[in-house]
Amino acid sequence: MTSPASAAPLRVLTGITPSGTPHLGNYVGAIRPAVAASRTPGIESFFFLADLHSLIKAHDPARTQRSTLEIAASWLAAGLDPRRVTFYRQSDIPEIPELTWLLTCVTGKGLLNRAHAYKAALDKNAAAGEEPDAGVTMGLFMYPVLMAADILLFKAHRVPVGRDQVQHLEMARNIAASFNHIYGEHLVLPEAAIDDNVATLPGLDGRKMSKSYGNTIALFGPREQLRKQIMGIVTDSRAPGQAKDAESAAIFQLYRAFAMPDETAQFKRALAQGMAWGEAKEQVFERIDREISPLRARYEYLMTHPQEVETAFIAGAQKARALAAPLMRALRHAVGLRPLTELADTESAARTAAPDGPLPVFKQYREADGRFYFKLTDAQGRALLQSRGFDSPREAGQAVKRLQTEGAAALPALAAQLDSAACQSLDIAGAALDRLKQALAA
Ligand code: TRP
Repeated sequence: MTSPASAAPLRVLTGITPSGTPHLGNYVGAIRPAVAASRTPGIESFFFLADLHSLIKAHDPARTQRSTLEIAASWLAAGLDPRRVTFYRQSDIPEIPELTWLLTCVTGKGLLNRAHAYKAALDKNAAAGEEPDAGVTMGLFMYPVLMAADILLFKAHRVPVGRDQVQHLEMARNIAASFNHIYGEHLVLPEAAIDDNVATLPGLDGRKMSKSYGNTIALFGPREQLRKQIMGIVTDSRAPGQAKDAESAAIFQLYRAFAMPDETAQFKRALAQGMAWGEAKEQVFERIDREISPLRARYEYLMTHPQEVETAFIAGAQKARALAAPLMRALRHAVGLRPLTELADTESAARTAAPDGPLPVFKQYREADGRFYFKLTDAQGRALLQSRGFDSPREAGQAVKRLQTEGAAALPALAAQLDSAACQSLDIAGAALDRLKQALAA
């Protein structure tokens, strides 16, 4: 079992498939608790829209785009704060499909043959007398590998999922372990966090609210629609004045999901004392609408200003890629996708990265072109990093300072200032920078 170093924050990663329009059950069971959990101190949360996954089922481009907007707007309206969490769209992170391929090459086909979703498709075909793989795309078959890449790319420790996703998490661990076995300990084995106490809400007919029963109440439908739908929820036939049992009533479950405990107790008493169902439903509507209406306003705003959601995605992708790019570089290096010029340098690189080897040094200088440069060299005098020209020595100095204090983490932000053709692979340079940073901090 892999657990994070005590000082490192726990990384929690949540994938959201953009399909359908969220309903009250999704809000109470998934969105609201996840948003609340993302505010927990000491937790680093990642939320992303799994739009690449959605293509497996959805082949209508306009709907795919619309769903992405609706679902993103819903989560943002429900209080997900992109300044606090890393919120991005899967298809904005090219490192995800890139990692998917590296993982594909260490994943046994037999492992994927055992996936529940794939086996269900086989069973269905068998029952219908079809070819075993009729209608099965490679997208469906590869689903678990893409999902593993989502998780492993961000070294997530914990992934909150429903029971139906547990097998996918096991596969992600399995795939990560295969990769680590072959190439060294690069990937973190994630754990599923299964919440069996997820609140489930009853739907219009009293059964669990679910898209598949067609008994849902839209989360951000018009206010009047919310009211109408609540008024239409099934009840027993007890008349006004007759005592009513709250626990067995769907509308009580709904009320309880939104109210404070004292309000809930009061509501229950009123039913026992004969409050009419009509009156009770009115209260349920008012209580739910009180929580939802500011969120609905925000949702409607975002739906008519998609550029704001787009801006959030772009900023999120930048944040996410700053983490993904260095890992991907290290993984490319680990599997041997390396610049050919590195071949001869393996030994010196190992020495530079060795915990007790000589430290690399920064040099700042001015060139004949009148511009200011820096480079980071190892003990053999080889350039690990080579900057482009700066207009002033101060700018060059600031970049050096940043690399010294932040180590490898500063590389993505400074990438444009580096002359990549003249640098060693950035993961060797990154390892050297991290050693330097530690030595300077000590
Ligand atoms: N498979 C998940 C679902 O159906 C969605 C998902 C895609 C996901 N990639 C993920 C969830 C990564 C967690 C982590 O709900």
